[in-house]
Amino acid sequence: MKTQSHLMATDKKPTIVSTEEGYDRWSEIYDTNKNPLTALDELVFFNHFPNSISDLHIADLGCGTGRVSNMLAKKGALVTGIDGSAGMLTKARNQSQDTITYQHHNFDAPLPFQNHSFDHVVSCLVLEHLPDLKLFFSEANRICKSGGLVYLTGMHPGMMLKGNEANFTDPVTGDEVRPKGYAHEMADFVNAIQHSGLKLDEMREYNGTTELAADYPKANKYLNWPMLVCFICKAGN
Ligand SMILES: C[S@@+](CC[C@H](N)C(=O)[O-])C[C@H]1O[C@@H](n2cnc3c(N)ncnc32)[C@H](O)[C@@H]1O
Repeated sequence: MKTQSHLMATDKKPTIVSTEEGYDRWSEIYDTNKNPLTALDELVFFNHFPNSISDLHIADLGCGTGRVSNMLAKKGALVTGIDGSAGMLTKARNQSQDTITYQHHNFDAPLPFQNHSFDHVVSCLVLEHLPDLKLFFSEANRICKSGGLVYLTGMHPGMMLKGNEANFTDPVTGDEVRPKGYAHEMADFVNAIQHSGLKLDEMREYNGTTELAADYPKANKYLNWPMLVCFICKAGN
């Protein structure tokens, strides 16, 4: 028989909050709360992103606490990280390198940059939070130099079919909190890319593996099941 406390721990509905509030709250523990999707994203990043990026200007859209911005800056890139959560940006600034600048901006509105401002544009694990993919992809295309790489990754729609959404456990209340997300289908991504002027060079899907599950037991649910999708595009402007 379930005790009342057991019921409270397992049967309580997740609290869904705005993306901004969700990440502001998550920022306190985000970097100590690494998950298999982030690990997989990191594992494959330089399979697709060039290593020789010294002195290149790169925009990191939805930079969060600066995970990807720092990976790029370590290779000599001049990075601008943009994010809509003040909390995530505070963490990013506290662990930043000199060649990174951070800016607060919500992707509901056009990006505050001139056309062709960046050599490359990257955005990792943000897409599932965006209601308007067409605006986001069009803006990524606009701010990138013609022919520059626009590299976009996201939670694979297959993960959502198993009920997964970005979430964390609030350390104070013990509640599961979900920053608002949108269950895009693969066709939504492809159609938005087509509409944006970007040229899709390659799309890759990555499954959960036993190696990943050995480090992150949560990934056992996704063995041989798609977790990550990557779109490797060129700016067409
Ligand atoms: C899962 S985190 C990924 C952070 C980072 N890219 C990484 O891979 O470690 C998603 C980030 O996207 C940001 N984000 C989501 N929707 C946004 C929006 N509409 N405008 C600006 N930032 C947004 C969140 O604030 C959060 O920092």
